[in-house]
Amino acid sequence: MVLSGKRILLIISGGIAAYKSLDLIRRLRERGASVRPVMTSGAQEFITPLAVGALAADHVFTDLFSRQDEQDIGHIRLVRDCDLILIAPATADLLAKMANGLADDLASTVLLATDRPVLAAPAMNPRMWVHPATKRNFERLKSDGIRFIGPMSGEMAEGGEAGKGRMAEPLEIVAAAEVLLSDAPRPLTGRKAIVTSGPTHEPIDPVRYIANRSSGRQGHAIAAALAALGADVTLVSGPVSIPDPIGVNVIHVERADEMRDAVLAALPADIAVMVAAVADWRVASASDQKLKKHPGESIPTLALTENTDILKTIGHHTMRPKLVIGFAAETQDVEGNARAKLDRKGADMIVANDVSPSTGIMGGTRNSVKLISRNGAEQWPDLAKDEVAKRLAALIADRFRQG
Ligand SMILES: Cc1cc2nc3c(=O)[nH]c(=O)nc-3n(C[C@H](O)[C@H](O)[C@H](O)COP(=O)(O)O)c2cc1C
Repeated sequence: MVLSGKRILLIISGGIAAYKSLDLIRRLRERGASVRPVMTSGAQEFITPLAVGALAADHVFTDLFSRQDEQDIGHIRLVRDCDLILIAPATADLLAKMANGLADDLASTVLLATDRPVLAAPAMNPRMWVHPATKRNFERLKSDGIRFIGPMSGEMAEGGEAGKGRMAEPLEIVAAAEVLLSDAPRPLTGRKAIVTSGPTHEPIDPVRYIANRSSGRQGHAIAAALAALGADVTLVSGPVSIPDPIGVNVIHVERADEMRDAVLAALPADIAVMVAAVADWRVASASDQKLKKHPGESIPTLALTENTDILKTIGHHTMRPKLVIGFAAETQDVEGNARAKLDRKGADMIVANDVSPSTGIMGGTRNSVKLISRNGAEQWPDLAKDEVAKRLAALIADRFRQG
């Protein structure tokens, strides 16, 4: 019950996703938090202060120059009397104001006057999200210490639009607030981690690709577990259908060479956990046009060429992270193959799992792993992938504690 008794100042700005903030208020209050709402004038075009105030059971603050509000509480006390400022939805406009230190309405003034943690849930049209100005503002706000949840990819509230820009769901925002306010120990604070996850798709032609059964569940869970221990995590994810983990900087890629570039761009780091099932080979010359079947013609042969080994590249890099962990998906002689990989790849540890179809591990929710390091091997019992992730993150934290 991390949120029990916590005072949350909820800033609602003017996006279509404002309707979700009504449910968010309920979810926060269910968990024992009190919610004091601030609405921009834009937000009031989408939902009413009446509905927000009724759900929050508090006065709704909308006006910087309200003599009554200023007399009763005052905008500075509004900021002081809270444990967390949550912005949901956070519009492109409000992010731009924050990034530039503007304070021309109550929401932006509160955000400039605060020393409390701020968690923002951006929501906007995908084109607004990828605009260089928004990208710039987002990067600047992250380096100012603002925490973000989302935006997520998928269908937008406006019909026919899809892409990255959808606000995280209320329960995802609640979970991110819990992580932020949790006073659980965060031994990896100040450490930077790179995690890869999911499969890669290697194109054959514009519509076909070579892939594998990886779901990304294990890699995503590891990224989340490291972030929960305070690490600054960059997750490089191949194409997966699961949501981005909370509190993690996610870079989405398709191909192995894109994954390699994203991993190298994320250096330097203290920790690298290479979980992705990266394709060993790609089609030597993928066709620009869809390959057609012509009666009487011979069946095309695919010539393959080798992809860069990302784990090996990281393991031997001049900026090699202090701790390099690789996952080995094997179907035979799991330990022998993993042990051979340790030296060849320059890894400190290999987490070996048997991905024979009978184990159901690849694509499933459970995992049975064996940790192989130069000190020996340790078999873990069959566990949920989340649990494997938590144990591995704790083990990593231990390594750093020992120096
Ligand atoms: C129908 C409609 C939907 C909108 N949805 C969004 C949105 O989801 N995200 C966003 O950043 N801006 C959205 N806008 C634009 C903002 O409302 C506009 O930038 C406004 O100035 C934001 O004010 P605020 O940031 O002070 O709340 C939308 C505008 C309209 C008319």
